[in-house]
Amino acid sequence: MELEFIKDMFNSIAPRYDFLNRLLSLRRDIYWRREMVKALDIPKEGRILDIACGTGDVMVEFIRQKKSGRQLFGLDFAPEMLYVARQKLEALPETGRTHLIAGNGLYLPFLPDFFDAMTIAFGIRNIIDRLGALQTFYEHLTPGGSLAVLELATPNQRMLKFFYSAYFERLLPTIGGFVSSNRMAYRYLPASVLRFPDPVKFADLMRSAGFKEIRWRRLTLGLATLHVGIKPKP
Ligand SMILES: C[S@@+](CC[C@H](N)C(=O)[O-])C[C@H]1O[C@@H](n2cnc3c(N)ncnc32)[C@H](O)[C@@H]1O
Repeated sequence: MELEFIKDMFNSIAPRYDFLNRLLSLRRDIYWRREMVKALDIPKEGRILDIACGTGDVMVEFIRQKKSGRQLFGLDFAPEMLYVARQKLEALPETGRTHLIAGNGLYLPFLPDFFDAMTIAFGIRNIIDRLGALQTFYEHLTPGGSLAVLELATPNQRMLKFFYSAYFERLLPTIGGFVSSNRMAYRYLPASVLRFPDPVKFADLMRSAGFKEIRWRRLTLGLATLHVGIKPKP
């Protein structure tokens, strides 16, 4: 039920998703994805999966930084988001071997130990069974492979928190709702960010799924956080 609601929501906002991302984050979203891709060492012949790839911005960033390895996959369960991603990738002069897959991030249609790197940007917040998802990602990484998780966060300084709440809980749903015609989606956004665990707790969750060498950092005054963890070699 929750899953269908989220899928329908992203299908409905897909045509306006990129425009609203840039507007509502003042283009910080591009910088955050850039930092995520920069944080990963990708072997030249590596395989990469971007989970909850949406309109393909993380894949574009891998291609832009020439880190797309031998094969770059994007997976998402909302076909309308994938449709935008396909158009975006087709418009690039050079994409290498890219593949878009419609599917649920909790049930990856790949062999275990398959990917050298996996990413998920602004996606894990929408998955209720986060530990289950992290365990699935872990299973499909090669030993030595890394997972990067980028997510929106609530800043921890008092003053900033005040302005952030006013913006995030009032202005953002109004603008988002007006432009996308789906006010519910942009009400869901702040609610889902507020429910998301703090960076220390999320690092613990990654540890519980088996990841090691976990590092994380706050981006742009704590408006987003980036976690990276490694699947250890035996
Ligand atoms: C906020 S968007 C992020 C899209 C993209 N990663 C980005 O950086 O803009 C969240 C995406 O997660 C997808 N999603 C949410 N839950 C999912 C799941 N269980 N399996 C696959 N995709 C999922 C949605 O369809 C949506 O495209």
